[in-house]
Parts: sequence; C-alpha cells; structure tokens
Amino acid sequence: MKVLVVGGGGREHAICWKLAQSPKVTELYCAPGNGGIAQVATCVPIKATDVDGMVQWAKDNTMDFVMVAPDDPLALGMVDALEAAGIPAFGPRANAAIIEASKAFSKELMKKYHIPTAKYETFTDLNKALAYIRDHGAPIVVKADGLALGKGVVVASTVEEAEQSLREMMEDKKFGESGSTVVIEECMVGPEVTVLAFCDGDHLVPMLSSQDHKRAYDGNQGPNTGGMGAFCPSPKYTPDIADRCMREIFLPTVAALNAEGRPFKGVIYFGLMLTKDGPRVVEYNARFGDPETQPILSMLDTDLMDIFQACVDGTLDKIDIKWKSGAACCLVLASGGYPVSYLSGYPITGLAEAEALGATVFHAGTKQSDAGEILTSGGRVLGVTATGNTLEEAIATAYDAAKPISFQDMHFRTDIGKV
Ligand code: AMP
Ligand code: GLY
Repeated sequence: MKVLVVGGGGREHAICWKLAQSPKVTELYCAPGNGGIAQVATCVPIKATDVDGMVQWAKDNTMDFVMVAPDDPLALGMVDALEAAGIPAFGPRANAAIIEASKAFSKELMKKYHIPTAKYETFTDLNKALAYIRDHGAPIVVKADGLALGKGVVVASTVEEAEQSLREMMEDKKFGESGSTVVIEECMVGPEVTVLAFCDGDHLVPMLSSQDHKRAYDGNQGPNTGGMGAFCPSPKYTPDIADRCMREIFLPTVAALNAEGRPFKGVIYFGLMLTKDGPRVVEYNARFGDPETQPILSMLDTDLMDIFQACVDGTLDKIDIKWKSGAACCLVLASGGYPVSYLSGYPITGLAEAEALGATVFHAGTKQSDAGEILTSGGRVLGVTATGNTLEEAIATAYDAAKPISFQDMHFRTDIGKV
C-alpha cells in the first residue's frame, strides 16, 4: 500500500516509524515531515493545512490511504475532502473533529449527554462573563473557545487574574477570533491522566493510559508548552478507574457523537482529571497527543496499519490490539527559550550514540541540511523514547540515551515521569 501521513512533528515521526514496520506498507510518504521522518518516509513539501494541495497530491500519486494526524487539517475537513476524492482516510470528519475545535461545542455535548466534566457557562459578552467570575470567585478557569495551540486556557487563582485573562481574550484578542467566545468553568482538582482511544464510529478501544508534562521547567514550573515529556502507562489509572471511565465517559461520548449525527472515526484523546468525586473530562482532542504518542506507540505490538484500516472500515471489534508489558518514557529535548522565544538552525550531534544506548529518538523540530546534517528547526526538537520492564527503567534508559545528544542551548526537564 502507498500511505501518506499528514503532519511533521514528533507524533508523526512515531506514527511513520510504526507504519514503516508494517508489511502492508510498501511506500510511505509524509507531508511535510521533518529531518527524522525523512529516514523512514519520503517527505513531501506540502503544508499540513493545505487541504486542496494535499488531496491533489494524494490523487496524483495514487495514495491508497492517508492518515491525518494534526488538529487543524482535521478541523478544516481534510478527511472529508479525501473521502470525496475516493481516498480512504484515517481521522474524524470536520463535523466530529469539532469536539476539539470548539470547547463550547464539547462542553454542550457533555452537558446534554451527562458526561462528567467541570460545570461551566459559555459567554460572548464581556460584561456578563465578568459578572459570572465575580459571582463565582476563584479559583476559576477561563478558556478561549477555538484552537489556540493549547495556550488559550488560564487556571486563575484570583478573581483579578481571571478578569485580566478574560479581557486579554475578549478585548485584546490575544488568541484572535478564538477568544470571541469564552468558556468559564469550575476548577477541578486531582491528578491528570490522558487516555487515547481508537474509534471506528461504533466501537472504541482505549490505548495504554499516559501522562504528559506541560510546564517548561522542573517541578511543573514555568509556562505551558506543547509537552516536555510523557510516559505510559499511568500508575494512577487503576483497572477500577479504567472501568468507570469506559462506562461513564468513553462509551457515552461515542454514543453522543452518533446520536448527534457526527460519527467519530480516528483517535479520541480524553484529557481526564481523577477528582475525589470520580473521573471528569478536562478536554477532548480529536487526534493522537504529542508527545504521548511517542511512548504509547513504542509499546504497541499490533500492526498499526491494520488498526487504522479497521477504524476506517468499522471493524475495530474484529482485531485484538496487543501491548508490551512494562512502561515507556519520552524525554523532550527543546531549544533554550522555548516556548517563549528561541533560535534554530543549530547542528545536532550524538543521535546515533543515543540510539545505540537503547532509545528511539523521534524528531519533532529538525530538518536535514543539503549536506545531510540534522539541524534544529523548532521549539521541541527531539523526543528520546525508551521502554523498560518498569517505569523507572524506561525513565533511566531515556535519560542515559539523551546524554550523548547535544545542540546549542539544549533544554530539558530532569523530572519526566517523576511528578
Ligand atoms: P485544556 O486545553 O482544556 O486541556 O486545558 C489545559 C490544562 O489546563 C489542563 O491540562 C489542566 O491542567 C488545566 N485545566 C483545564 N480545565 C481545568 C479545570 N476545569 N480545572 C482545573 N484545571 C483545568
Ligand atoms: N500533549 C497534549 C496534546 O497533544 O494536546
């Protein structure tokens, strides 16, 4: 099969790495890809958000299957457009991808179908929103409605902070139009766990649970990032909690989307908070998480292409998805200054040595120079990923393997998997 993966980060490298192991996949392409993906797939210079360009290229080059990984092309309807062109595509259509693209929509859905989540109200009027905040007091959470690269959420510990964030979103348009509608919600307390699940429209199969580390610095300090590391499975996600999530959250979500005429095929990302009153949804995403995908796919024993096809064909109940025992950890090596401001274009050394120490190094922000050298080209640069019999072993291998890697101003957290 000729397969195209859309995207170009660490998540897409892990997806390509796994697909390249499938005997079914004879030709693998990735658009736009990156310096590491180029080692397992042919990179095609088309932007992930260029729906028309992508569909045209897939048609011209007779792709048998396309996997759309990032949120924005999904929200733009890339899967719909590929289907219309007769090309089987993995990922939700735009009308189902909306569970991530609009927080107001997903909160409404959860309310209507009694799926446990934080209490909330949606506002388009600044004064009404300010009154609600003064009425409810802090801590309180303010969220811009649309996709804001994970940065449109403020957990405010004082009323003043909540008011200021609200003004920045609604008046100053800090997140553009995505801040015209805001969701204000109750602040939940408890450990956070992520569960990604394959979904074929009717059936849902959860992957291993995972946790990521969003803050830039050790001890969960500093600004929010796209993720500084992740591990799986989460020791906090016990079999009892998993049963409860399946009954109270996962299956009701699939049923709710079907009832709304928005069948979901692809990966649903459940961001969960394990509160003292039970598991609650923090957010839905309509795709694989980054960097959670890197450790999760490192633990997958089943052919990923078989799973993708089953999701598209509606036959997920017919395959047995197997996982390795033990655990996996992904340590992100970032550019100094990320996520605020950083420089790129620095040569990276030590990659082969890291892999010789037992890790798989997934590339996030890298590019290959004309001379074949790997250079930094983004904030998150690499995800050094290792498996082990225990989480401690996986963490130790990932950190050991990262030692030979170096590039100018390299920054990483020293506590991935530990907090
Ligand atoms: P989101 O983009 O909705 O996942 O929010 C980003 C982060 O903000 C989450 O991972 C949580 O740590 C935090 N957060 C979001 N909503 C809430 C809430 N209602 N209560 C407490 N923390 C929250
Ligand atoms: N790691 C968080 C996300 O992918 O949204």
